[in-house]
Amino acid sequence: MRQLLPVPAADVDPAAAHAAAARPAPEGRPWVLANMVASADGATAVEGRSEGLGGPADKAVFSALRSVADVILVAAGTARAESYGPPRTPADRRAEREARGQAPYPRLALVTRSLDLDPTSAMFTEATAPPVVFTVTSAPTARRQALDGLAEIVDVGDDGVDLAAALGWLADRGVATVLCEGGPSLNGQLLAAGLVDELDLTTSPLLVGGDSARAAHGPDGEPLDVELAHLWEADGVLFARYVRA
Ligand SMILES: NC(=O)c1ccc[n+]([C@@H]2O[C@H](COP(=O)([O-])OP(=O)(O)OC[C@H]3O[C@@H](n4cnc5c(N)ncnc54)[C@H](OP(=O)(O)O)[C@@H]3O)[C@@H](O)[C@H]2O)c1
Repeated sequence: MRQLLPVPAADVDPAAAHAAAARPAPEGRPWVLANMVASADGATAVEGRSEGLGGPADKAVFSALRSVADVILVAAGTARAESYGPPRTPADRRAEREARGQAPYPRLALVTRSLDLDPTSAMFTEATAPPVVFTVTSAPTARRQALDGLAEIVDVGDDGVDLAAALGWLADRGVATVLCEGGPSLNGQLLAAGLVDELDLTTSPLLVGGDSARAAHGPDGEPLDVELAHLWEADGVLFARYVRA
């Protein structure tokens, strides 16, 4: 078995490394990579937010992953907890994206049953492209109307968003790479449905306890074999890239 020692993150350009990584879209859907930060004991939130878990090196990896995505997929619980805004891509990364044939900014896509999303939030009012909101036919009409003109609302399911159908909808529109930023319940459903190709997991040298969910939490699925594609380290923080074997 090959030995993979952590590479000092200072020796790596995360944006270049992630841009160079192969992410071939499977038949009928985009490549799906999930990015999460956790404590050494598996907590994904401190007092309900992920903020306390990452550090400067994690921000660089987070930004590098956003730079390669056509779409950033996030569940409504995380968008609310983390006060999501529009993706903000620095100018040099925008130029690289355009050179690769991508839009300058990744587009945000949300998953929600309730449509409980604040229409005055920056993720709608400051968006360069209106977010896609994947929801269900039974979503409340008044909330649907409140988002009119601010988002592209797509019904994919009656009681729960059919995630395979949502990914298929994106693929039909040329989306090749989807970055899922959680939360754990969305990751868990994607995993159970066999819709995850890559996990980029940052592990911080913290022990947190608490009752936050693991990086993926939800229905049982077939365990997925993954390979460790890289492992970087900065100040005790580990950055692992696992790819479907
Ligand atoms: N450490 C990290 O990297 C990280 C990353 C992300 C999030 N987090 C943390 O994780 C927590 C939130 O995660 P969570 O697992 O509780 O919630 P979540 O997955 O972010 O959101 C759950 C919500 O998403 C919507 N949803 C999910 N699947 C759906 C489906 N199939 N159909 C329709 N709607 C669906 C529903 O929204 P509606 O209620 O609107 O119907 C549901 O209530 C927060 O504390 C956040 O800070 C940590």
